[in-house]
Amino acid sequence: MAIHEINDQHLLTFSDFIREKTGLTFDKSNWYALKVSVGERMSAKSVDQPLEYFMQIKDDLKECEELISLLTVSETYFFRDRRQFEVLREHVLPEMIERKKKTQGRPKIKIASCGCSLGAEPYSIAIAIDQGGFQEADFEIIACDINKKSIEFAREAIYSDHYFREPETDISGYFERQGKKIFLKDSIKEKVRFYCANLMDLSASSFNLQDADIIFFRNVLIYFNEDTVIKTIQVFEKALDKNGYLFLGPFETLMRRETSFIFNEIGQALVWRLKEASVPVKERVSLPPPNIVMDAPPPAVFVDKVIKGDESHYEKAAGYFHIKRNQIAEKEFQEQLKITPDHVPSLVGLAFLYADVGDSVLALEYCQKALKVDNLIADAYFIQGLVLFQMKDFEEALKLFKKTVYCDDKHFVAQYFLALTYKEFNRPQQANHQFRVAIHAIDDLGKDGLTRELAGHCGNYILSLCLDNVT
Ligand SMILES: C[S@@+](CC[C@H](N)C(=O)[O-])C[C@H]1O[C@@H](n2cnc3c(N)ncnc32)[C@H](O)[C@@H]1O
Repeated sequence: MAIHEINDQHLLTFSDFIREKTGLTFDKSNWYALKVSVGERMSAKSVDQPLEYFMQIKDDLKECEELISLLTVSETYFFRDRRQFEVLREHVLPEMIERKKKTQGRPKIKIASCGCSLGAEPYSIAIAIDQGGFQEADFEIIACDINKKSIEFAREAIYSDHYFREPETDISGYFERQGKKIFLKDSIKEKVRFYCANLMDLSASSFNLQDADIIFFRNVLIYFNEDTVIKTIQVFEKALDKNGYLFLGPFETLMRRETSFIFNEIGQALVWRLKEASVPVKERVSLPPPNIVMDAPPPAVFVDKVIKGDESHYEKAAGYFHIKRNQIAEKEFQEQLKITPDHVPSLVGLAFLYADVGDSVLALEYCQKALKVDNLIADAYFIQGLVLFQMKDFEEALKLFKKTVYCDDKHFVAQYFLALTYKEFNRPQQANHQFRVAIHAIDDLGKDGLTRELAGHCGNYILSLCLDNVT
């Protein structure tokens, strides 16, 4: 069946159900992702009517799991946001072991990876512990994910080059390569226990978070709505040891949320601790900017897109890109361009996709193609700016971010990067002014009747970074 037959009313029914069950939230920015996934399962089950399929997922747990496995974004890689693992190894574990030695003979440390996806995160934890030595302590590492297929994959622990994207980390000694397959060594594999569990209802599984000393919950809450974030954080507040540590992703914050956590900046990473934690906050250091392209939720270019004429490949591509199925997304964008070669959203979509997978040459090329069709495309300047910023060509990045905000003065991510670029040039006043402009741009989205969520969940994150920087 054509996915066009699934209408907005159907999608609302599905999204309410999925949100209730998993916490995953669908809005205009990821509507297509829901649509392509429902369409894919309807075809697999040979069901024509969306509501008939809806009745199936309500009654059939297995089918419901199949749909959820398509909807979750399993993007992950080893030592993602490497600094957090350095902080774990160099600061958090030594502090914890010393403290526990005073009350326990041999310290026991329980670490949980919540939303562990394909296992790269908990295995990175196990590798970091191995690198640190820590012979004097015992470790328990548990990991959970709602996606059953991800858990099966994690238990197998056979990876490909795709999962090794952190250039500054050499962990090759922990793996064995056979052709394109990369096998994790048993000595690390056996250190992690995996569970298929839903963080919204842990009582239904044997995943036991209680008394965890460290919780990793990275790059999950960006996909949740506010209520779900609060519910999940409350679970962590109860489960985490009072001197424990919570690691969130670089795009995630609990600032301006009513929780018992406050953040500490340790080394070059942010960690969250319960307010009553006895270890004092360390001196604050300036954090490096997050890798917006790699870790951000999908781009705003898709947000207000109105489908005209035959843009069905684009529609699918946008959906697949959102759930990071980049290979299919790339193919669909290319198919769309065969039909309509000047299709700007597909050109920009491909530029984002290539930037996302680290192919800066192709990213820049597709930005140029989009700008040839229309030289006022803000995102095409923005992506080029990001690529150059990452290459530390700040002169060029500055020009490109300026062009971005010239085309779209509400482009708050570009405003934020413009401020960071001024900081690189040691122009604090201009940087300060620019952080304020970004804050206003985010606030203005609210005035226009748009929610911050609509700006991509990174709206909240950028806001907190700007508020942190502004003086
Ligand atoms: C983007 S991945 C992040 C993986 C890993 N934490 C990292 O940072 O590399 C998000 C994961 O959260 C999982 N997830 C989403 N909702 C969940 C829930 N309600 N319970 C458990 N896992 C969930 C998804 O299945 C997905 O594997």
